[in-house]
Amino acid sequence: MKFAVIGHPVAHSLSPAMHTANFRSIGLDAVYAAFDVLPESLEGELKRFAAEGYRGINVTVPHKQAVMPFLTRLDPSAVHIGAVNTIRFEEDGSTTGFNTDMYGFLAPLKASGFKMEGSSVVLLGAGGAARAVAVACLDSGCTSLTIVNRTRSRADALSSSLSDSRVTVSETIPSDSSLLVNATSVGLKVDDPSAFPPSAISSETIVYDLIPVARETATIALARSIGARCFGGLGMLVAQGAEAFRIWTGLEPDVAAMSNFSTFGL
Ligand code: ATR
Repeated sequence: MKFAVIGHPVAHSLSPAMHTANFRSIGLDAVYAAFDVLPESLEGELKRFAAEGYRGINVTVPHKQAVMPFLTRLDPSAVHIGAVNTIRFEEDGSTTGFNTDMYGFLAPLKASGFKMEGSSVVLLGAGGAARAVAVACLDSGCTSLTIVNRTRSRADALSSSLSDSRVTVSETIPSDSSLLVNATSVGLKVDDPSAFPPSAISSETIVYDLIPVARETATIALARSIGARCFGGLGMLVAQGAEAFRIWTGLEPDVAAMSNFSTFGL
């Protein structure tokens, strides 16, 4: 069975190592590769994957919206978030687009017993990742969602597309929120500072940094030092990947093997 992730750039992706750890653990004869695909080659590459018998692919930045017109159908998860991160190649040659980012974001929070109902959420960022987080928080019953973004107009655009009275846009990060989510790319570079100032964090805060890296980001390091409960991006990466695997194969993955992949080979 063949799988892949496409993005541009994609070399940094942890998905091949993570999925390979699962294949080995459950004894599945499968491979998972990463392909750097330029936007102009997207349609042709999708046809190539279908022709070469791929079962499924993951889609990452910057293709999550661009792939949508090239797919035969969209699952409600993809329509709801307005982006696709998982494609399944069907036996009749057609394609279905799914989005497992919302499931991936919520799974670690749910597993920890966190209740979104009654929570005030601060969302830093206004790109594709932020959109999936916003929909997840609103759907699961947060009381308020404050969007803060470097470029105010993008925060306003995300806010109006959500059209929900619980959503506001702010220039500054409020200090008394239950859940702080970093959905910007701040933290991807090793020497990036914390995405949040210390004043926004208390020991009661939950800090969720979506940056999918094995190391501790400055955001998580700061939050831990203040005594906040922390979630890193690897938990979301694993959960969205596990859900993609279920969609592609109907099989249950070894989620523990997928979580532990970062302890070897990196
Ligand atoms: P993705 O789909 O992964 O969310 P994106 O659409 O490029 O990627 O969004 C990246 C987000 O990180 C944006 O909110 C961006 O802010 P702008 O809208 O102002 O570009 C944010 N971001 C990137 N670099 C940043 C930085 N150095 N400081 C603050 N925000 C940053």
